[in-house]
Amino acid sequence: MNKKIEELLNAQIVKESYSSNLYLAMASWTESEGYSGISQWLYAQAEEEHVHMLRLLHYINDRDGRAIIPELKQPPVSFESIQKVFEEVYAHEKSITASINKIVDLTFEEKDYSTNQWIQWYVNEQIEEEKTAREILDKLKLSGLANMYLFDKDIMSFRTKKVGA
Ligand code: FEO
Repeated sequence: MNKKIEELLNAQIVKESYSSNLYLAMASWTESEGYSGISQWLYAQAEEEHVHMLRLLHYINDRDGRAIIPELKQPPVSFESIQKVFEEVYAHEKSITASINKIVDLTFEEKDYSTNQWIQWYVNEQIEEEKTAREILDKLKLSGLANMYLFDKDIMSFRTKKVGA
């Protein structure tokens, strides 16, 4: 496969793997703070990111490239608040969207129309991921700290799809 594309897809493996670890760190912290619903949402999100990483890995290998399993930096151990967790999720997803868009740009530059077609799945996925993070932040604003118990119970309603779907 095109070497420049392969490099950028491998760089995306790093990002999707880190996303998974970041959400796992958030899940673990929220679980230890007693937010079982929120942690459930974040554990599921971490699994989904792992699947995003695997899709890239198989695509690179299927196209006669070589997927590289990266060393990862450690995500934070604790977080300031639930609000900050979801602000970080939203900011992180926006950075992932920018990164996917760079891959799309390169597929045009390199005339790699197969990868261009294949990466559209991620383009659509990012629309969904940003939307969900924004909705959760809106809901948090509406419910406020006093209703955190209900928010924690309700958050799984924001999972519209199954892991790996
Ligand atoms: Fe795999 Fe949340 O982007």
